[in-house]
Amino acid sequence: MIAKRSRLLASHAFAGAVLSSSVLLMAQGIAKPVAVPPPPMGWSSWNSFSNTVDSQVIMNQAKAMATNGMKAAGYQYINIDEGWWLGQRDAGGNIIVDPKAWPAIADGEQAGDMANIVRYIHGLGLKAGIYTDAGRDGCSTVGPDLGPSYPNTGSEGHYEQDFLQFAQWGFDYVKVDWCGGYKENLDPAIQYAEVARAILRAEAITGHHLYYSICNWGKQSPHTWAPNIGGIATDIWRTGGDIVDPIVAGTKNSDRKAKFKEVLREFDQAQHPEAQHSGFYNDPDMMVVGMPGLSDAENRAHMSLWALSGGPLLVGADLTALSPAALATLTNMDILRIDQDSLGLQSFKVSESGPGLEVWAKPLSTIGERAVLLLNRTEAPASITVHWSDLGLRGDSEVSVKDAWTQTELGEFSSEYSASVPAGDAVLLLALGSEGATTLYFPEEAKTETAVGHNLTISRNQQLTFSKVTSRFAIARVRITYGNPDKTPRFAELRVNGRIATRIAFPPTGGDAASGILSIESNLDINGAKNTLTFSTSGDPGPAIQSIAVQ
Ligand code: GLA
Repeated sequence: MIAKRSRLLASHAFAGAVLSSSVLLMAQGIAKPVAVPPPPMGWSSWNSFSNTVDSQVIMNQAKAMATNGMKAAGYQYINIDEGWWLGQRDAGGNIIVDPKAWPAIADGEQAGDMANIVRYIHGLGLKAGIYTDAGRDGCSTVGPDLGPSYPNTGSEGHYEQDFLQFAQWGFDYVKVDWCGGYKENLDPAIQYAEVARAILRAEAITGHHLYYSICNWGKQSPHTWAPNIGGIATDIWRTGGDIVDPIVAGTKNSDRKAKFKEVLREFDQAQHPEAQHSGFYNDPDMMVVGMPGLSDAENRAHMSLWALSGGPLLVGADLTALSPAALATLTNMDILRIDQDSLGLQSFKVSESGPGLEVWAKPLSTIGERAVLLLNRTEAPASITVHWSDLGLRGDSEVSVKDAWTQTELGEFSSEYSASVPAGDAVLLLALGSEGATTLYFPEEAKTETAVGHNLTISRNQQLTFSKVTSRFAIARVRITYGNPDKTPRFAELRVNGRIATRIAFPPTGGDAASGILSIESNLDINGAKNTLTFSTSGDPGPAIQSIAVQ
């Protein structure tokens, strides 16, 4: 009986069955959307302290985060960037830090032990981040910002030792820069894979997790390999350069200014929606919200861009000197909800009505909800219109529109909404409507199974193929119904039309029979083209994939 019903389903499904969202839910059974790890939120020392970072600076910033409303809003990392270490090692190769810069903080502690500052940060209920370089030297030898050039501040030749040390000190996050690697003309995919291996080893020894952030400024397209370097992954990868050189109060660099056009440049560099899903994130750089140079409106537009992009929210401003307006911008819970949305997807540009007049949208986890940005890059105010059908929403039904910053209800609108956007500014909206049509596909390989449409587990050297897949959108939303009975993610690689694979993490779905739905965004060929999506795995076993629904 089951087989018969399944065959029936299959007979029309392989060509793709166009379904409304309610029929789709039935076809996908009781599967529920799974939540993926959100992008990190925190603070980093580089933008405001450069190489002057020390224990006192970090304690002051951590105290500020714990008490100014940022911790309550979800910020948690206090990240120590370059300048904490001057390149010295003992005879055994262990890192030695300046005991005056990193003294004892509590009774019984030793000066020069980085565990002191970690304990302090943890004591405030926050997490601690540290920094190194994948090469032999750090950035100070390439372009020293403040202070002299210190050679040997990288981890090359000491990966296992250094990352074990970071975990033993208690750090929760590590940023790995590329100045030394670049200087030596190393291959970033290889070096960062070696670092990933050293991190896995450190985690296995200490039982302590290190969140892994890489920073090679988008060189050699890390979005194509960072989530999958020989079967291991980085969590976030920088996609471009620095928005600003550090602005350090009381130094020769104090009169530098952040510029909004550099914020836009890094936002643009970070757009790789096909690589950002299932907990892996493009990193457009630390934010400059609250730093000298940006107006309140530019701070809000910057925050809107990062939230829409699902970017890591790592604040670069001095937290002890934030204006009330900047603090309000950083802690607006409605905007943070967009950034931290449990689908973990990135925005993409859905239309451009004229040069510099753009509509960007990000699918959110509430069915039928999108964050929509009307972005005016020109020097004159302009009206910008969003059409519901461009968002994958039904164009013929009413969509309720809210201002995302103020949560003001703007009303119900059929087919489109227009707003006047000031020059060089953006309007961020929340649009809630009905999902547009979705097409359901089952794997080719299921044709040979009796239980067509049931979970087919991918294992090494096998693949699942979804063919003749069409979409109206160049960036298609693909919802994968799958099962993973383990307690940790399983992984699969997806190739679209034989192009370079993107690695997908499939979070646990519960017991053996339970399924979940994971959303990703894929670069499909449009205009009636029939795409082929192939899932394979380099680890064993992979997830059990049942169907994909494509919008
Ligand atoms: C590079 C990185 C920055 C910062 C500095 C430190 O430029 O891109 O984020 O870490 O190095 O020197």
